[in-house]
Amino acid sequence: MTNGYEINVEDIKKDFPIFKINMSGKPLVYLDSAATSQKPQQVIDSIVKYYSEYNANIHRGIYDIAERATEEYTNSKEKLANLIGANSVRNIVYVRNTTEAINLVALSWGNTNIEKGDHILISDMEHHSNLVPWQLLAKRKGAILDYIKLDSNNEKFDMENFKENLEKNPKIVAVTHASNVLGTINDVKYITKEAKKHGSVVLVDGAQSAPHIPVNVKSIGCDFFALSAHKMLGPTGIGALYGTEEILSSMEPLFGGGDMIDAVTRYSHSWNSLPWKFEAGTSNIEGGIAFGAAIDYLNTVGMEKIRRHEEKLVKYALESLESIKNIEIYGPKKDETSIKSGVVSFGINGAHPHDVAEIFNSEGIAIRAGHHCAMPLVTEVLRKGAVSRMSFYLYNNEEDIDKAVAAISKVKKIFHLE
Ligand SMILES: Cc1ncc(COP(=O)(O)O)c(C=O)c1O
Repeated sequence: MTNGYEINVEDIKKDFPIFKINMSGKPLVYLDSAATSQKPQQVIDSIVKYYSEYNANIHRGIYDIAERATEEYTNSKEKLANLIGANSVRNIVYVRNTTEAINLVALSWGNTNIEKGDHILISDMEHHSNLVPWQLLAKRKGAILDYIKLDSNNEKFDMENFKENLEKNPKIVAVTHASNVLGTINDVKYITKEAKKHGSVVLVDGAQSAPHIPVNVKSIGCDFFALSAHKMLGPTGIGALYGTEEILSSMEPLFGGGDMIDAVTRYSHSWNSLPWKFEAGTSNIEGGIAFGAAIDYLNTVGMEKIRRHEEKLVKYALESLESIKNIEIYGPKKDETSIKSGVVSFGINGAHPHDVAEIFNSEGIAIRAGHHCAMPLVTEVLRKGAVSRMSFYLYNNEEDIDKAVAAISKVKKIFHLE
């Protein structure tokens, strides 16, 4: 560990088998954790262990391995509840991902609570998964979709505009905790407090925060919080919707079938208790169990440490990039890393982001280029067709950033740029 970093990246990397591979004949430098994170051996092993030692359905059998599967799956929810400061597993609904969590709210809560002419408030910083479900709901119901504008630098919410929008008493305010393009960490606690003064329900999209910063849903005060396991060292196909007991109890299940019922007669049924009334059919059992192993890993390192590590890295990256000519950086800059997650989007004047990503690939570096599933932000606010993005996690270090900077020099050389 050097320069005050508290995480020993060399040790951490030993836990991630992917770092044994080469890409384009070079050791892999993975700078795309905002898209999906890499998985430690502990998570991979937990899946193999489930299938080879106690594969059985949950909530059904009373034999030993079925009870163990049920216990491990429920334990995983308990671990998640603790990680995000929820009261209990009753607040944790397992779904496929953040997208499904938000759609569940828009469909179940939205169908009952939104009427013609109601306002729904989101922002200009949203990923499509916290945007399209609200467009669909607004269309179904004849509701009005409003957007919190960004400030003049396109870095943060324009708080005056947020307050003006609140005057319309939106039924729901749904905003991202951390932007997957700008890296901005929004003050969701303050946003919730203000929204509550207007009687709004608040949903926080935690896809980019839960993996990287300590989260406490009770301290935020939101009604809903959505996240994806695959962005936080866990497997794909599993994510969670946190909801307060009050709001989840008031909602109807979206799907009917096995496991979500208490009793069924030929013409009626009653619902299972929380959170199971929202989980019809056989669950993603291996996913839930492996998510538990991912949370164990995060806890062993410590969320505070992960955040400090990424803040140092992002500062280093911004300092390095800001000193290069003809580079545009989007989102908060090096003097505002306290509100910047480990996401750095940039453009090199004169080179298309897709070409930049190709050249990075030839150096063994994985970055993403495109609209990042945030088209209104990238095309309408930033007025770009695409941007390049590097994103960091606990297995990245300054050496990775140095390699990215060298790749930028290669781009400039190839395109004869200054
Ligand atoms: C801010 C944000 N919200 C939501 C999502 C959607 O996550 P998922 O595809 O896992 O549903 C993403 C994915 O990149 C994201 O960055």
